[in-house]
Amino acid sequence: MPVDGMRPPSTALLTPLRWEDGRLLLLDQLRLPAEARWLACDDELAVADAIRTMVVRGAPAIGCVAAFGVALAVRRRADAGGNSAELIAAGEAAITQLGATRPTAVNLFWALAEMRAVLPLGADAVTQRALAIWHDDIDRCQKIGRAGAELIPDGATILTHCNAGALATGGYGTALGVVRAAVAAGKRVRVLADETRPFLQGARLTAWELARDGIDVTILPDVAAGWLMRRGEVTCVVVGADRIARSGDVANKIGTYTLAVLAREHGVPFYVAAPRSTIDLATPDGAAIPIEERSGDEVLSFAGVRIAPAGVPARYPAFDVTPAALVTALITERGVSLPLPPDLSVLFDT
Ligand code: MRU
Repeated sequence: MPVDGMRPPSTALLTPLRWEDGRLLLLDQLRLPAEARWLACDDELAVADAIRTMVVRGAPAIGCVAAFGVALAVRRRADAGGNSAELIAAGEAAITQLGATRPTAVNLFWALAEMRAVLPLGADAVTQRALAIWHDDIDRCQKIGRAGAELIPDGATILTHCNAGALATGGYGTALGVVRAAVAAGKRVRVLADETRPFLQGARLTAWELARDGIDVTILPDVAAGWLMRRGEVTCVVVGADRIARSGDVANKIGTYTLAVLAREHGVPFYVAAPRSTIDLATPDGAAIPIEERSGDEVLSFAGVRIAPAGVPARYPAFDVTPAALVTALITERGVSLPLPPDLSVLFDT
């Protein structure tokens, strides 16, 4: 269903955020799938904390939510009678705080730059911009879905990694938007969801949102992908992205690069679905993309229980970079780029 203007998205559409009476509500992704609980964020501190702790995650969703974090800060200052300079200062402070939460997803910095540009226009304009960023993202995901669905044959088995779905965007999803649009077009589609250790975005979130929509989904241990490709059981891989450099190199959830290498070895198409806001022309190539290192504790424990011997450390790079040469096609709201040009600024200079 199309999203237009400032009307909130239909309640039939799963979204990871809601804006109600000047409050930001986040669907707590730490609790899914056991419990669908909405968490209220009243200020930018709470929003920054929710991004850092992954109550909300996924590149486009982080950008949308950070925009509302800036709006909350500016509105509070306006309610306290602040003048224009004070509103701008409050917005700038929030931008600094929110920009320090997670380094890899460029959508965060894109959304904060969009918000900075409207700070001089006052609290209402700032709120309207945050709403527009959110609604636009849903609209872009639906366009990505329709473009990508053309690449999916009837009867396909689509392997995906992490969660690039409604929960990771304003709503609808990028990689899972392609799945949704293919299903909406009447194609029979089956999804293999990598469990995605250690946060289990695949097992917990992708499986939950696809099952909720009645889409055929099966969870796969991350290590099983190569074997199923070898047996001819995977039609294509579709993943999202956190940052795409000008060269076309793609940063996404750790394990994506491994999948791309496996896909190339087995002749399986490897598709990346992302909005224009994920393409960072200022970053020349994958080597320049900052990769978040999260605490090894997230690897050493499972559901709060330590699973490794005491005293042994763990390493947790949260993202990896897939070289452009391994990407079969890039799917954006502007269509399918196949093959990728060596410099994405040819296609995405605006
Ligand atoms: O650490 P996360 O869960 O924020 O990582 C998310 C991903 O890697 C997604 O694949 C990416 O953000 C694209 S979401 C449309």
